[in-house]
Amino acid sequence: MASASSKERSRDGIAELARRRGFLWQAFEIYGGASGFYDYGPLGALLKRRVEEAWRKFYLREGFYEIETTNVAPREIFEASGHLESFTDRAVVCKHCKSFFRVSEGVDVRGKCPECGGELEAAGEINLMFQTRIGLSKEERDEEAQEKTEGYLRPETAQGIFINFQRLLRFNRDKLPFGVIQIGKAYRNEISPRKSLIRLREFTMAEAEVFVDPGEKSNHPRFDEVKDRMLWFVPSEGEGGEKSLEEAVRSGIISNEYLGYHIVKVEEFLERIGIPRDKLRFRQHRPEEMAHYARDCWDAEFLSDRYGWMEIVGVADRGDYDLSSHASHSNTDIGVHVQLPAREGETVKTKAKITPHVIEPSYGIDRIIYALLESSFYEEQVGKEKRKVLRLKNEIAPIIAAVFPLLNRDELKSKAKEVFQMLRDTSIFVEYDDSGSIGRRYRRQDEIGTPYCITIDYETLADDTVTVRERDTMKQVRVPIGKLEEVLV
Ligand code: GLY
Repeated sequence: MASASSKERSRDGIAELARRRGFLWQAFEIYGGASGFYDYGPLGALLKRRVEEAWRKFYLREGFYEIETTNVAPREIFEASGHLESFTDRAVVCKHCKSFFRVSEGVDVRGKCPECGGELEAAGEINLMFQTRIGLSKEERDEEAQEKTEGYLRPETAQGIFINFQRLLRFNRDKLPFGVIQIGKAYRNEISPRKSLIRLREFTMAEAEVFVDPGEKSNHPRFDEVKDRMLWFVPSEGEGGEKSLEEAVRSGIISNEYLGYHIVKVEEFLERIGIPRDKLRFRQHRPEEMAHYARDCWDAEFLSDRYGWMEIVGVADRGDYDLSSHASHSNTDIGVHVQLPAREGETVKTKAKITPHVIEPSYGIDRIIYALLESSFYEEQVGKEKRKVLRLKNEIAPIIAAVFPLLNRDELKSKAKEVFQMLRDTSIFVEYDDSGSIGRRYRRQDEIGTPYCITIDYETLADDTVTVRERDTMKQVRVPIGKLEEVLV
């Protein structure tokens, strides 16, 4: 019981801390809130930007192009993408209180209403897209005219990349493979979202679309760099467990090298920003949970204290589903000319026209933020006090350093402000704080994950050195002001 209750405390602890310190706020709070919507406060917004920036850098370094496409798109895009027909969830409705619920492991028509205990009945398949109007139509009763103005908020950023494929291919000088990323909002009118950042109606996705010749999928040029990486695989059938990527591909658990390579990249990125590897596994979708466009999909799942295993990234093999469908719906030729390898005895290489396949790592940024907050939050005893600390990696911490005058004296305050301004000018995220005891100031920074605290004292005025205290070890070292930039990395 003792360990269960301390876990309970820390779960509530992180939610309370996130609210109190300006990471996450219920959206529309003063109007009573609405489920499925969250706002990021000043520290949350900084943390999110830094995670997005780390992600962008990671994929740009892999050679991807970044684009930015619209959030609203006309109906025909989602007719072609299959979302109008297939992007649905099964729902039930309570006969008594009329609340709707998504059919899930815990809720179906045989159960009772989670709100009031009433009887439930089937409510059919509900499309999850938000519908809107693009411009106006005078002919309100004319169905065809209405369809012309019908638009939707995108349920994924990916379609904006697919419909620009021709231009992107030309941009890449008509060569495959290449990859394109996009970070942006996506919208899903979830039937009954109840899990803070885990199921949102408006959320941020970071998606990478890799276009590859299907004949080359089992031949990734950099496979050797990642093949020995050990990962925890849970296939849809058969035994799960830790295996090297090479073993997983050779034994057919992972169907091709491109998919395998990108699964490893997902884990590399998550580890880099601080998601513990021992809380990560890759689980393959069962056929009945696969999205309409996917022929295979592996979720990177994070083991949450609060929610159990939860998806934070999906890595799908979308085959040629999207490109073929947009080609036929838009009457556009999306085929790519590729050279086939010469067969034995042949001297002339033959050309073929193919439709590229797509491998897609799709990251849920808000879920990753939740996983980071939960897994980096610790409560520990320091002397007689309990300290709350967020052990965020330096690369994503919202504030890198806080600058304090040791005492509330004008000469120390003005020197501290000078150091603060100097660091701010070099675009290091810094904060200045002169209120309360130094111990309290340390605690305030610990709980928002600031890796360093810099204290200005009388020695500083004499020799231009400061004390730098490191968050996790709480050790202090003396550093010349001129060297601070090097130390704060
Ligand atoms: N593009 C991946 C998804 O919609 O989940």
